[in-house]
Amino acid sequence: MVNEIIHHFKEKRNGVFLDCTIGNGGHTLKLLETLNGQCSIVGLDQDAEALTRATDNLKLFQDRVVLRHINFTSLDTVLDELHITHIDACLFDIGVSMNQLYDAQRGFSFSGEGPLDMRMDARSETTAATIVNTYREEELNRILREYGEEYRARQIVRAIIKARAQNVISTTTELAELVKKVYRDKRHRRTHPATKTFQALRIAVNNELDNLKNALNKVVHYVTGDGLICVITFHSLEDRIVKQTFRAWADEGIVSLLTKKPLQPSQEEMVRNPRARSAKMRIAKRSLHR
Ligand SMILES: C[S@@+](CC[C@H](N)C(=O)[O-])C[C@H]1O[C@@H](n2cnc3c(N)ncnc32)[C@H](O)[C@@H]1O
Repeated sequence: MVNEIIHHFKEKRNGVFLDCTIGNGGHTLKLLETLNGQCSIVGLDQDAEALTRATDNLKLFQDRVVLRHINFTSLDTVLDELHITHIDACLFDIGVSMNQLYDAQRGFSFSGEGPLDMRMDARSETTAATIVNTYREEELNRILREYGEEYRARQIVRAIIKARAQNVISTTTELAELVKKVYRDKRHRRTHPATKTFQALRIAVNNELDNLKNALNKVVHYVTGDGLICVITFHSLEDRIVKQTFRAWADEGIVSLLTKKPLQPSQEEMVRNPRARSAKMRIAKRSLHR
């Protein structure tokens, strides 16, 4: 979907962009390489390892890029510190990166053994192990139901409570096995039975939904008339937030919607990158006189 981003951002080729989820710097690099202008980009990420990679990948453009290790809910602090009062376009490419997912030590995935961590920001205190081992039954139920849309939440939580009374649940594989046992009557599933539980815990550990809402409500005040707000999400809970926020802004006349329906990756992109299949992109354009 990077071509769509380029297509929309090119009219701002000399402007100031904010990449709220710089990751490895992939999107920012593509914009800098192809826009053929003099745009400058502020890039944020809460993951220190991502910033190290982004710094390296973007070194050819270091005079046009400023990177900060910070949660995007503090985007106002960064922009104020840089004396930036207006931005021309901003991008959120929400969610976990491949580097985070494939590093077993980060604890995001059930496919490799690792500590039950899941923090994107290693400075924050709450890990998935904290939640699994210390949260009360009702709160665990809520997390699995709301963030995982897990219909066996109650059974899974009961299994967690029983297991943790014996021993601390400390690894990804211990938790995955425990969920698998709850699903033992369903052997031929397309996805691993622990998928939803892991998604729910990751959202809770990183406070993902509230962070997205807060950041959208902050960034809209910085985007200038006819500037762009572009958000890529990877599951329906996030997309719903973007859809509802954009709709509410459109109703108030603050933005117009450039994507009435979310854009999705082409067949070719999905074949090349199967993980992109659930991606959805929405773009809003700030109205000139509001
Ligand atoms: C899918 S990756 C972004 C990939 C990037 N667009 C690229 O092209 O390389 C998502 C990144 O967003 C970061 N992230 C997620 N939530 C964040 C938040 N609240 N604040 C800052 N960074 C966040 C993650 O740490 C991760 O590095």
